Order: sequence, then C-alpha cells, then structure tokens
Amino acid sequence: MKKQIFNPNPEFAKDARVGSMDAYWELQNRAIEDYEGFWKDFADEKIDWLAPYDKVLDESNAPFYEWFTNGKLNVSNQCIDRHLADKADKTAILFEGDRGDVEKITYAQLSQRVNKMANLLKNKFGVKKGDRVVLYMPMIPESAYAMLACTRIGAIHSIVFGGFSAEALKDRIEDAEAKIVITADGAYRKGKPYMLKGVVDNALSQGGACVDSVLVVKRNNEATEWVEGRDHSYNDLIDAESDVCPFELMDSEDPLFLLYTSGSTGKPKGVQHNTAGYILWAQMTMEWVFDVQGDDLFWCTADIGWITGHTYIVYGPLAAGTTTLMFEGVPTYPNAGRAWKMVQDHKVTQFYTAPTAIRVLYKMGENEPKKYDLSSLKVLGTVGEPIDPPAWKWYYETVGNSNCSIVDTWWQTETGGHIISPLPGATPIKAGCATFALPGIMTEIIDPDGTPKEIGETGLLCITKPWPSMIRNVWGDEARYKKAYFGDAVKDGKPVYFSGDGAVLDEDGYITITGRMDDVINVSGHRMGTAEIEAAVNKDDSVAEVAVVGRPHEIKGESIFIYIVLKDGHINDDIKSHINALLSSEIGNIAKADDIIEVPGLPKTRSGKIMRRILRTIAKGEAITQDTSTLEDPSVVGQIEACVKG
Ligand code: WTA
Repeated sequence: MKKQIFNPNPEFAKDARVGSMDAYWELQNRAIEDYEGFWKDFADEKIDWLAPYDKVLDESNAPFYEWFTNGKLNVSNQCIDRHLADKADKTAILFEGDRGDVEKITYAQLSQRVNKMANLLKNKFGVKKGDRVVLYMPMIPESAYAMLACTRIGAIHSIVFGGFSAEALKDRIEDAEAKIVITADGAYRKGKPYMLKGVVDNALSQGGACVDSVLVVKRNNEATEWVEGRDHSYNDLIDAESDVCPFELMDSEDPLFLLYTSGSTGKPKGVQHNTAGYILWAQMTMEWVFDVQGDDLFWCTADIGWITGHTYIVYGPLAAGTTTLMFEGVPTYPNAGRAWKMVQDHKVTQFYTAPTAIRVLYKMGENEPKKYDLSSLKVLGTVGEPIDPPAWKWYYETVGNSNCSIVDTWWQTETGGHIISPLPGATPIKAGCATFALPGIMTEIIDPDGTPKEIGETGLLCITKPWPSMIRNVWGDEARYKKAYFGDAVKDGKPVYFSGDGAVLDEDGYITITGRMDDVINVSGHRMGTAEIEAAVNKDDSVAEVAVVGRPHEIKGESIFIYIVLKDGHINDDIKSHINALLSSEIGNIAKADDIIEVPGLPKTRSGKIMRRILRTIAKGEAITQDTSTLEDPSVVGQIEACVKG
C-alpha cells in the first residue's frame, strides 16, 4: 500500500530557504555536476575565513580526506565574534533549569564568558593548542562556554556524557590523554540534586594520571572531596580573568573535538572531527533542515554529551546566529506538560527530540499538548532511532497540529551533521521516512561488494563521496578508522563509507532507515556495542559465556537482552543484580539489561562464531527462519527457545 504523503505548509514554504523540490534538485544537481564547486560556494559564503584555503577537497590519501586545505578560521569566531556587530544583544543561549530557573545569555555576554574561560584555561592551567580537555558536565551554560573556550584556544574537547560511569570516564580520559577535566559539583534532575564531581574523583582514583587539574563549576552545592592542588573552583577563579582572549588561527584540518562512540567491536572509538568542514555543515544543516530565521527559538532536547547536543545545541545554532534553548531537566518533570509549557512560555519555533521521548510524552499525556498554545512551532525534528508510524502520526497531528513539517533526520556521531532528512519547506513527507539525502550528500543502498539494491530490498546504507563534516580519524588509530568504516566497495576508485545502518528505497525514491545491521544496540537512542556489554558481563565470575542482543521495546526502541551460560549452578536474582551492577559500574545505568536469561549453550558455527541473528530472532519471540544446519550443535536452538519462553 502506498504511504500517505504530507506536503509542506505553503505559508512556511514561501519564506523557506529551500522552498520546493525543484529548488532541492537544483542544489543537488549542482553538487552532482560540480562537487567541489558546490562546496566551495557554500564555504565562501558561510565561513569567516581568516586566511584562504588552497584546495577544496584533497582525496590523495583516501579515506583520509582533507577539506579546505590550509584555510584558517576559528570556530568561536564563527559562533560568536562575527555576530557581535549586529547581534550583540540577541539571546544566544536561553537556559531553563530543572527547577524552572531561566537565564538569558546574549551574544555579548556569551563572548565575555567564553573569553574569560579561555583565559582561565590558558593562563591558569597552561592549556595549549592541541591539548585534550575532557568535559564531564551537566546541561548548564558553562558547558557551552567550556566547549567554545576550547575552540578559541585550539584545545580539543572530549565530552563524556554525564550518565557514563567512573570506569567509562577513566577509559575515555586515558585514551584521549587529557590534561584537564572540567566538571560540575552536580546538577538537578526531577527536582533533586545529583552528583558529578564524585564520579570524576572515582575515575581519577582508578587511573587518568595524565590529568593534572580538575576545574569544578558550582551548580548545586553538593559537597565533594577536594583534592588540594588538583581541584580548582571555576566560580572562585573566573572573575579575575580578562574578557579579552584573542583566538588562535586554526587550520581547516586541525582537530576540533573528539567524541567517543560505540561500534560493533572493542572499546568505544574516539571519533575525531576537524575544524572547517564540521562547522560549515553544522551551520548549513541548521539553516536548511530547521530553517532557523530571524527571532526563531530553537530547542534541541539532547544532552551535550552526545553528537546531537554538540551540533544542534551549541555549534549549529550559534554558527547560524540563532537562539538555542538549553534545558537541564527531563521533559516529563514535574508533569507530562513540562515540554509543552516550555514551548508555550518561550515560543519555541523548532523542536528537536528523539522517538523515545516522543513515545514517553505520548504515553504519559496523549492530550497534554492540546492544553498549551503550541502555535509558535514550525518545524518538528526527530533523531536517534527509527520512528514508528504511530509516534510519527501523534507528533505530526497532535503536537504539530498538522501544520508543521516533521524532519526525520538520519545521521551519526561520525557524520558530524544531518545526512538524510526532509527539508521542511520542500519535501513532501511520509510517516517514519527520512526521505532524501541532503544537497551535497551522495548516498547509496548496496550489498557489501557495492552492488546497488533494488527498490524494496533492504541493503547497507553508505555514503559514496566524502563530505566536509565526516569523521577524520579514530583518535590515535588510523587502522581502526579504515577497518570500521570502509570495506571492499569502491566508487570512482575510492572506498565508500559504510554507516552500519540498513535502509530501503521505495518506488518514489524515498529512503527509509531500517536500523543497525551490525552488533550495535540502540537503547532510547543511545548507541551501545554488544562487545563492550559482553566484556562487562564477563567480569562476573559465574559467567562462562555471554551473548548480547537488542530486543524491540515499546518505549526505548530496543532493550538489552543477555544470554548467559553459567560455569555451574543456575541463575538467581543475586547473579542478575550483580550483572546489572557490573553494567552500571563499567558503562553506566543506560547499559542495564531488561532480560538476563540462562541458556545451556550458544548457537555457534563450526568455526566458533556466535550466530547473533538467531539469538535476536529468539529474543523477539519470532520463529526461526535461518538455516541452523551449519551450527556446531543445531539442537541448542530449541533449548534456547525453551529457556526464553520459560
Ligand atoms: C540511529 C545520533 C533511524 C542509526 C545522531 C545511526 C537513526 C545511529 C536516525 C547513530 C533516524 C540516528 N532514523 N535511525 N532518523 N538517526 N539513527 O552516533 O542507527 O548516537 O547509526 O548519532 O542512530 O547514533 P549516534
């Protein structure tokens, strides 16, 4: 059956930057005909170059691509200084705290605070260009100041999501060899204070010898240990710093930040983004996909610890000169109307969230949006996991009053910004469908060897040409970068980028994302690798073997489902809680399992490879369709099914 199509609101399309599919194709055809010329035009228009680049794209060392070679710029200039002439008094960041406290920070104030923090990092802590700075921060404006201060002096930030455990934080600090950690005493969540600094203390007691200083921002006055000589109070030091800190001239390809993310094997990888290409695409996608204009107020509900928070709370909105709303709390506290009240109170124009949040908001208050004036909304965005058609429909009809475009944006930590998404003034949309690659982006759905899939056949989603904001390297590990993202498939003599996601084209050329094709699990839009979860479970002495899969979950999208083989005895509540305690201490509470099932053995091929596909099918409660005759012991499949049915 053909899916229903929803056309953009004509009133909105009239003033949109890209106002029709003809305008979309004009852009995309220009990129197809003259790829470098397309990117050159936008780089020249959007970036405040402080010295010109010599070459748009250098492919000589593929897949290590360089964009805008030898150009000079600075991201904090791009996001702040260059706006001061005409936007000094415009609100840059509108902060709302968990307890309803609101603060408006203008571009002029943002400039002062970022300059002061840059001076503090430079003068007091000796942070220099190229040094790594780890942030373990809550959602408070100081997090954005710290990010921008790093970019101002050329330091490379690596933000670790505040939900990660001390162990996970320690691993990331050590891998990046960070010199300093910036944190807060804690913050507020659901009306209650929680602690962050204690996790940093714990991490540094286990390792992280590279760190000489910890800078602590005061948010909730939670008492913490204080290590003299190592710990410093931001609030006590910042006033003495000057609010003038000249920015470093950064090369287009100087590293901008690292962000650790999970893949199908091994420990999380430090995804490295570089300066010019990242900021260019952050700004362009902000302008195209959300079409922010004038006094728009943009609200992305992500946490700055994820790529969505980097690109669409801080860098994209500020580079585009818009107002970004930063929210400390959860959208359902103190009640199911919190998010909608915030939209009403602040007149939010673009709202960007994850399908999990949409499902929770729906479940907690289907009619709640109707109690508020949401007429300011123009564009609704979704990201992080496939959105199911019922959630999409509620978002479109009830939240958006059938008036707003929904932009279902597909992208990844590695892509830096959006890759596939509708354009709100141009693209006729279908429920649950990410639609088309953005102008300048070349995607294909293929087999591992590069053969394109037919319409209706799910294949591997890949990006066939390098794009400016693509991952540049896995921090310190070029071999891993090549192996993780580039396979055998080649286009125009260059390896294509494999996303790890599956996708399918329909008869109208629309792309629907089907989900991960590899061993990555997506729980509430949080990416986790089965290998890291299995490594944590293996630390339990009673476990002989373990295999982890994702199981579809009504709210979270997927939940973690663990099969274990015990050395002896049988599973009991103690073992289960010990395994969950390990997951929360090794990774974080987001890694806790919904199901832990004891089985007599795992389905393995004769070469010893665990057939996770079979385990996924059983976890879903579906009938096995895979060929099990090649297994070392086919009878184990029936035994596992019996254990799961219990
Ligand atoms: C998934 C988040 C379906 C996908 C920006 C991808 C999506 C992973 C969508 C990246 C979407 C993201 N529809 N799936 N619109 N957006 N994903 O690195 O599996 O945290 O590979 O980046 O999220 O997660 P990451």
